[in-house]
Amino acid sequence: MKEDVFAQIEKNIDQLVENSADWTASAAQRDLQDAREGKLRLMFFDREVPMEWLGDVKGKKVLCLAGAGGLQAPLLACAGADVTVVDLSGKMLEKDREIAKRENLQIELVKGNMCDLSMFDDGSFDLIINPPSFMYLPDPAAAYRESFRGLKKGGVFLMMAPNPVNYMCDYIGDETGGYYKAVHRMPYCSKEHDDSDWIEYGHTMETYLGGLLAVGFVIDGYMECQKEDITELYFMVRAVKG
Ligand SMILES: C[S@@+](CC[C@H](N)C(=O)[O-])C[C@H]1O[C@@H](n2cnc3c(N)ncnc32)[C@H](O)[C@@H]1O
Repeated sequence: MKEDVFAQIEKNIDQLVENSADWTASAAQRDLQDAREGKLRLMFFDREVPMEWLGDVKGKKVLCLAGAGGLQAPLLACAGADVTVVDLSGKMLEKDREIAKRENLQIELVKGNMCDLSMFDDGSFDLIINPPSFMYLPDPAAAYRESFRGLKKGGVFLMMAPNPVNYMCDYIGDETGGYYKAVHRMPYCSKEHDDSDWIEYGHTMETYLGGLLAVGFVIDGYMECQKEDITELYFMVRAVKG
């Protein structure tokens, strides 16, 4: 059953890449050059990851977890990190492959599921960055456990995910311009509300933050970003393997 879910999500993401969804845009040439010159600017949607959260990535082993698309991995590689990407979507990974070839960067690309990182030894990474992707998991727990295992002691896990408010409301159109109405309880699964092939999950903050604490992470940073559609509120967390 879960295998079917992931196969469908892979298809959905591949299709988005073909249709050039906005978050499938790759890093700009100028940003790559800046990263080479020591000015790394890493974006998760509209929010820049603070430099003090990242630290100096030069020579660090970094995993971009569900982080393909040519946005973060090439920048980290230009900044001197030893970068690996794991992603479900072959088409997203293809974007990293193209940039790596064009820019002469060494990036290890792995097509796989973030719930199973058994291809990596315990303590392989200094830093794991996870751009918004947990909305494609029925449950983040396995990815959290695997990330914790894959990090060195003192290693850092940076993630962004949607606040539950993204899934609580439906838009009600009316003659005054329309409004949002809170109608869904959490946790949310799109499959329970429409017949389309799109699959997305809304998790509670307890699942997100409590889940990190439950596998042993210490949370030491929290930020938010709100997109133009006001219910699109995302949070970013820095967690450390103590
Ligand atoms: C919104 S994109 C994030 C990457 C993009 N670079 C960004 O910053 O927006 C979500 C990514 O998660 C990946 N993904 C979804 N479910 C996954 C899973 N179970 N395992 C690995 N990758 C997954 C998708 O293929 C997609 O590349």
